[in-house]
Amino acid sequence: MKDLQQNAIAVLNKNWKDKFSIPCDKLYPFQWFWDSGLIAIGFAHFDMPKAEKEIETLLDAQWSNGFIPHIIFHTDTDTYFPGPDFHRSNLHPDSSKKFKSTGMTQPPVTGFVLQDLYRISKDKKATLGFIESLIDKVYKNHEYFYTQRDPQNEGLVYIYHNWESGTDNSPIWDDIWDTMNPPDYTFERRDTTHVDASERPSKREYDHYLHIIEIAKQNNYNDEKIAELSPFLVQDPLFNTVLLKSNQSLIDLYGMIGNNEDKIEQLKKWQEKGTAAVNSKLYDAELGVYIHYDLRNEKPLRHISSSSFTPLFANLPSETQAKKMVDVMMEKFGNPDQYLCASFDPTSDRFNPKKYWRGPVWINLNWFLYYGLQQNGFKDIAKRMKQDTLEIIKKNGFYEYFDPRKEEHKNGKAGYGGYNFSWSAALFIDLLN
Ligand code: DGY
Repeated sequence: MKDLQQNAIAVLNKNWKDKFSIPCDKLYPFQWFWDSGLIAIGFAHFDMPKAEKEIETLLDAQWSNGFIPHIIFHTDTDTYFPGPDFHRSNLHPDSSKKFKSTGMTQPPVTGFVLQDLYRISKDKKATLGFIESLIDKVYKNHEYFYTQRDPQNEGLVYIYHNWESGTDNSPIWDDIWDTMNPPDYTFERRDTTHVDASERPSKREYDHYLHIIEIAKQNNYNDEKIAELSPFLVQDPLFNTVLLKSNQSLIDLYGMIGNNEDKIEQLKKWQEKGTAAVNSKLYDAELGVYIHYDLRNEKPLRHISSSSFTPLFANLPSETQAKKMVDVMMEKFGNPDQYLCASFDPTSDRFNPKKYWRGPVWINLNWFLYYGLQQNGFKDIAKRMKQDTLEIIKKNGFYEYFDPRKEEHKNGKAGYGGYNFSWSAALFIDLLN
């Protein structure tokens, strides 16, 4: 495993572009929000200055209203679609004057990432000094979510695009696509020139993705208008868990820094309300797991995905809820013929073990679940989650996602999507250490 750690370090160094990291060559040639945060955790183990620079660059692209974009287009390249000319996020008056970006966001990992940098750091004093220099920007990002993305003041924030969820083409979104009928757009895909089309979303799925952006652009990315008009408006358990986990980290870090009582008080209010709301609105007692809620059409989306178990990561479930949820996880996803953890219910007709977020194992989700299981006392299952994660990388290399079926791994070709993928390398390093 130590040799593999050296390979992981080489992947991160190769994908480092002076002040930020790309997720992988060609397929994702810019800086992505949640990738960046998770990559910084990997760097923190062997190169803290790069970890800090990664976060600094990300926060440098923050808009004046606190919003952080999902992609920051640092360079010009024609290997990716849709690029900055399609997104045109500068239609929003608060957008960055310095960087081109998208007008959508991603799971707000930055708060807990700062705490992870502190956990890993060998020079706690210096790292706390770094955190102090930019923690207010992260607070401002949370303030943006709670004031702009929670129209009914529930303590839950919405996402308006599947790319904001991070779980880009989860079968959950099929329910939303059934409510839409976008035009048949003409455009040139670039992703399928780098990766086999069977592992990527369909043309029709891209029509939906582009259509939601068109509506946001027509309204200059105005949040109120998006809340009123976007056909995609979802409260996502993974997204809200990440926000709550980051809230908790900000409370802890401000506590260490001192002299920030007002902010701590506000964060605690968001935390209390958000935790209660996740447990009442997003917990499905019959299924025994957390689910997504379609705020546009006012209905729960009753599907089980790896996101359904992530509230463990922020310690949101009660002991009884956690126990039931882990039973469901093992019953549906824990088959000994499969690696933990498929990204979508392997017993569902919509499950596809090769296609992007429709079934494959993802290292970042396994990482959330490993820590969540560990913190909630499920030591044996946490151990399996970690071993499975390390083993699929050992067998295949640092791919973007992996087939959950063990049989497929016999020939070492069960890794899919991008290769030398940064967060697979970064989180591998974190799990090993
Ligand atoms: C893509 O292009 O598929 C990206 O993941 C969007 O974030």
